[in-house]
Amino acid sequence: MEREQWSSRTGFILAAAGSAIGLGNIWRFSYVAGDEGGAAFLVLYLITVFLIGYPLLATEIALGRSTRKNPLGAFRDLAPDSPWWLVGAMGVLSGFVIMSFYSVIAGWSFSYVFRALQGFSAGTDFTALFVSATSAPVAPVLWHAAFMAINMLIIGTGVVKGIQKVSELLMPLLFLLLAGLVIRSLTLPGAIEGVRFLFVPDFGAVTPGTLLRAVGHSFFTLSLGMGALVTYGSYLDREARIPASSAWIVGLDTLVALLAGLAIFPAVFALGFAPGEGVGLAFMTLPAVFSTMPGGHLASVMFFLLLTIAALTSSISMLEVVVAWITDEKGWPRRRASLIMGGIIFLAGLPPVLGFSHWSHITIAGLGILDFYDFLASDIMLPLGGLLTALFSVHVWKHQNTLEEINRGTGRLRFGSWYRILAGYLIPAAVTVVMIYGVWNRFLAR
Ligand code: TRP
Repeated sequence: MEREQWSSRTGFILAAAGSAIGLGNIWRFSYVAGDEGGAAFLVLYLITVFLIGYPLLATEIALGRSTRKNPLGAFRDLAPDSPWWLVGAMGVLSGFVIMSFYSVIAGWSFSYVFRALQGFSAGTDFTALFVSATSAPVAPVLWHAAFMAINMLIIGTGVVKGIQKVSELLMPLLFLLLAGLVIRSLTLPGAIEGVRFLFVPDFGAVTPGTLLRAVGHSFFTLSLGMGALVTYGSYLDREARIPASSAWIVGLDTLVALLAGLAIFPAVFALGFAPGEGVGLAFMTLPAVFSTMPGGHLASVMFFLLLTIAALTSSISMLEVVVAWITDEKGWPRRRASLIMGGIIFLAGLPPVLGFSHWSHITIAGLGILDFYDFLASDIMLPLGGLLTALFSVHVWKHQNTLEEINRGTGRLRFGSWYRILAGYLIPAAVTVVMIYGVWNRFLAR
């Protein structure tokens, strides 16, 4: 069967930006930035996104476009008879792991859209509400199932009619909702404190741990290290300009993180809450903040709708990685692939759901089940995948070939010979150091 192709350049950019822009930009970015001191974290994050994220994003797209394959097939085609296909295989496996817990959180968000629509009664204890919402034995399983079902439907429909259509529809809506929230938040009295928190750095608060989280978050937020962009690149036409498209994708992703920060922190500060509330920021602090401000009812509906839409355009790209693999390699029809693979991911998501109820006593390396999935995927598998992809592109596929594919076409923005040093040596070295430090911190320094 002929491989599908994005029907326009904007369609590709919106789909890829949709993959990048997700829970990471809103839920994860705000709580990590909140924990790590705001602006100082933002500066490190901008540097790592630009120096590591941008070149790697272009590399993944080039790998996919050159081979027109899923990640496993792409590595195998470029280096036959070598173990490099394992990098692609780890990417596909990361797709299963990340999507399974991602869908659980998206399910919470989905359920909060309906809670917010009904309105929160005065004096609601949002911490208690979150605990009861996530620890109920059945409801979170059903929300996770509902979210997976939507994903399976979109991916079963196809690349252009499914992924591209949904992205073209939902991404503009996402920007509108976000702009509305930013305006509401910035016009609150006392909003300026939150703006200062986000933009005036205090480097006294920076630790090696901050740098580690900045690197880890750059991978996560740009969907790097598991071949999602290899897969999306495999549907890209030969003449599309990769350096410019990648700049758009990175730029939009960064813009949404900044706007989410501007929607969240001014409101948090204006109403006297604390920014460093960890994972609960989006689900406990924000509804509490919104419920005490004028226009708060609409703001909470908009916020959870925004979060759910962002999650959906990301999760479809994870399911697509898995589906592209099984359709390419085993010749399964797309519908069957999305049904069965989606079903497996649903099952893989049950331990993280139950980790908040029946299995809340289970910890692995000091982490709850969902946090352990996140740690394993985001702090180990993604950076390792990204590091090996960078090494592969320079030393195995050879930087001349990678550069030729990246620079194909007539664009004025081109990658130069700096690419070889950056992707072949500096990025792998930096990511290795950061990973070792991260694993050390988790397992050995305790
Ligand atoms: N980028 C997504 C976000 O910010 C999350 C993500 C991580 C992802 N890895 C991915 C999405 C791989 C798609 C594919 O929420």
